[in-house]
Amino acid sequence: MACDTKTWLVLHVVLLVTCYMQHCVNGQTPQVPCIFVFGDSLSDNGNNNNLLTNAKANYDPYGVDFPTGSNGSRFTNGLTSIDYIGEFLGFTDFIPPFANTNGSNISHGVNYASGSAGISFETAKHMGDNVPLLLQLIHHNIIVSKIALMLGGLPQAQQYLKKCLYYVNIGSNDYINNYYLPQFYPSSRFFNPEQYAQVLSDQFSLFLQALHAAGARKHVIVGVGLIGCTPNAIATKGLKQGELCVEQYNADSLILSLKLRALVDRFNTEKPDSKYIFVNSTAGSVDASLGFTVFNAPCCPVRSDGMCVRDSIPCTNRNQHVFHDGFHPTQALNYLTALTSYDSTFAAPGTTSPMDIKQLAQYPIN
Ligand SMILES: *[C@@H]1O[C@H](CO)[C@@H](O)[C@H](O)[C@H]1NC(C)=O
Ligand SMILES: *[C@@H]1O[C@H](CO)[C@@H](O)[C@H](O)[C@H]1NC(C)=O
Ligand SMILES: *[C@@H]1O[C@H](CO)[C@@H](O)[C@H](O)[C@H]1NC(C)=O
Ligand SMILES: *[C@@H]1O[C@H](CO)[C@@H](O)[C@H](O)[C@H]1NC(C)=O
Repeated sequence: MACDTKTWLVLHVVLLVTCYMQHCVNGQTPQVPCIFVFGDSLSDNGNNNNLLTNAKANYDPYGVDFPTGSNGSRFTNGLTSIDYIGEFLGFTDFIPPFANTNGSNISHGVNYASGSAGISFETAKHMGDNVPLLLQLIHHNIIVSKIALMLGGLPQAQQYLKKCLYYVNIGSNDYINNYYLPQFYPSSRFFNPEQYAQVLSDQFSLFLQALHAAGARKHVIVGVGLIGCTPNAIATKGLKQGELCVEQYNADSLILSLKLRALVDRFNTEKPDSKYIFVNSTAGSVDASLGFTVFNAPCCPVRSDGMCVRDSIPCTNRNQHVFHDGFHPTQALNYLTALTSYDSTFAAPGTTSPMDIKQLAQYPIN
């Protein structure tokens, strides 16, 4: 059974990528009219290109498996997990980045995600510029105004926007590029892990309130992944005896994920006109049965900051690698992440709650 899943997964990855490359149109109407994406490098598709920062991925070997190469500006070898989710929902084009919506149809949604960004404003500012979560929301409000103009008024825009999907995947940089860098940020002196997670969760709650005020009704909130298992965490922090991952990192970020899950429960109660789902990014196990053989080594040669060395030669067995660089998953893992959050029949129990993305897309909003 596990073996069948693996073959099917790998085949499906190949088919999907081919599909994008040939701009194939399957004629189906997407299950939701639009997707709005908030987050960090796990979802960024070009928003950092013109910012003053090293956190950008518009050079080789990023995009080595992307239809237009590193031009795709994604922090992986191919597609991101939200790219795949868009495909599963029936979109035949990628959702355009906010930084370059010129010439794109914003009525299918916009991607505001920014590499290195966090929930907290100061996160990763030692690396240069980024667009933190609350600024992404301001960008969204600009887009909402434009959609209102296109559709002839705010009421019409609200009617349209409430059927869209709002995907939020952020938080790991608040640890990796803030809490764990006491030389740059005081947060770990002010707060213990529980208090820090509460500060982040409070800001996230404000974000969700404002997003609701902007007309969002269907939300996907993704918890923080296993940040202690990245090649970079292992290389910089080192492992204690018997550890396979930096367990402290996973434990700290789990506190935030649990709080985000609790927020989802709270908002589902407080906002009966809306639906929120939580995606547990650490629920399933990633193992050899899915075709992965390299779990904690990057596929590309990496710089000291964990990003691929420009124009370096990546590994050839990319479908067997969990990580493309020091932090970011390969498209093979992104595919798995997307599939398990989209359709719970492929996922470990408890991966999505209270429903999966496929069900959320169909969920009636009045
Ligand atoms: C970048 O991608 C766009 C399509 O998104 C394409 O039109 C353009 O030619 C590409 N540029 C390069 C340099 O590959
Ligand atoms: C948008 O695209 C048009 C046509 O290609 C171009 O003339 C215009 O300068 C672009 N605007 C921006 C802000 O890039
Ligand atoms: C944008 O997409 C919407 C929905 O698919 C469509 O009705 C509209 O005509 C498109 N606008 C442009 C300028 O392509
Ligand atoms: C995610 O799933 C794992 C494995 O079942 C569990 O240990 C963890 O508590 C879950 N995380 C959240 C935020 O619920």
